[in-house]
Amino acid sequence: MSLFLVTGILFFLKIAGSTAVIHVFVQTGADFILNVTEAEIPPKSRLWVWQFNGATMVEFSPDSQPTVVSHTERIKVLEKKYCVKLRNLQKSDMGIYTAKVLLSKEQKLTEYNVTVQDPVSPVYLTTDSVSSTFSTCNLAVTCSTDDSNISSTIRCDKQNCHQEKGPGSVVTKSGASLHMYLSHSSIICNHSNQASWSNDTGIIVHFCHPCTDLSVVCLVKKVLFSVGLIIMVSAVFGVHLMEKVGKQK
Ligand SMILES: *[C@@H]1O[C@H](CO)[C@@H](O)[C@H](O)[C@H]1NC(C)=O
Ligand SMILES: *[C@@H]1O[C@H](CO)[C@@H](O)[C@H](O)[C@H]1NC(C)=O
Ligand SMILES: *[C@@H]1O[C@H](CO)[C@@H](O)[C@H](O)[C@H]1NC(C)=O
Ligand SMILES: *[C@@H]1O[C@H](CO)[C@@H](O)[C@H](O)[C@H]1NC(C)=O
Ligand SMILES: *[C@@H]1O[C@H](CO)[C@@H](O)[C@H](O)[C@H]1NC(C)=O
Repeated sequence: MSLFLVTGILFFLKIAGSTAVIHVFVQTGADFILNVTEAEIPPKSRLWVWQFNGATMVEFSPDSQPTVVSHTERIKVLEKKYCVKLRNLQKSDMGIYTAKVLLSKEQKLTEYNVTVQDPVSPVYLTTDSVSSTFSTCNLAVTCSTDDSNISSTIRCDKQNCHQEKGPGSVVTKSGASLHMYLSHSSIICNHSNQASWSNDTGIIVHFCHPCTDLSVVCLVKKVLFSVGLIIMVSAVFGVHLMEKVGKQK
């Protein structure tokens, strides 16, 4: 009686486990591997399949080669014999993929709910304003994508920077997420959906004190500034000299 109960519970667990749908997100154009392990297939099965929205894509039986029924150009049966690779996923491939034993007894093995998403567009970090003194710096910055943006103010003292105001993240018009945060004295913009992300990064000190480094732009600026100064000083001297010469005449 207790053995019957245990078997009953195991059977229930098996059914409950096998009906759980695994939700996955795949980027448009990417490949996707549908997995089922040999251990999941009951020993005496004579026919099992991978289905897409209830229609058979590939058929397997123990003693013959797998038969690809649909999606023929894009399906590759992997050497594991039960796993299938679907190439170059498109929006029309969104749906339910089910591994199922048909004979001798029908039984669902595993199920995927596949959502195909376009890769997110690039994100750009821009500074709207900078006001810096020797010891503090206030930055207004924006992360923008093709359809949304998020702005924030960042305040730094000599030691630390923190995000003063503005939301940390927003949901964009296309349903992706746009996130701005600080990490190791950098500002990071992250545009992401469940299948992809893009980012842009700015180093705060470059915005606050643009010429503390030895970049080419800074060197050129310094040289131009020095040359300008020399010309100005020479001009002042020149005028002075000419005045003197004029008086002596
Ligand atoms: C199937 O297995 C492969 C290799 O272990 C893995 O890369 C892939 O993400 C798995 N697919 C799913 C839908 O979990
Ligand atoms: C699959 O996921 C979509 C959302 O991405 C949802 O609308 C649908 O109900 C899910 N289907 C199943 C059978 O879980
Ligand atoms: C930010 O988005 C708002 C609308 O949400 C728009 O009016 C504004 O022009 C955008 N700013 C930038 C810099 O793209
Ligand atoms: C961007 O966000 C995605 C999704 O949350 C995450 O996987 C990724 O690591 C993030 N990248 C950066 C640079 O923050
Ligand atoms: C994130 O940004 C860094 C530097 O800007 C770049 O090297 C990296 O490729 C980016 N990663 C992604 C996934 O866009």
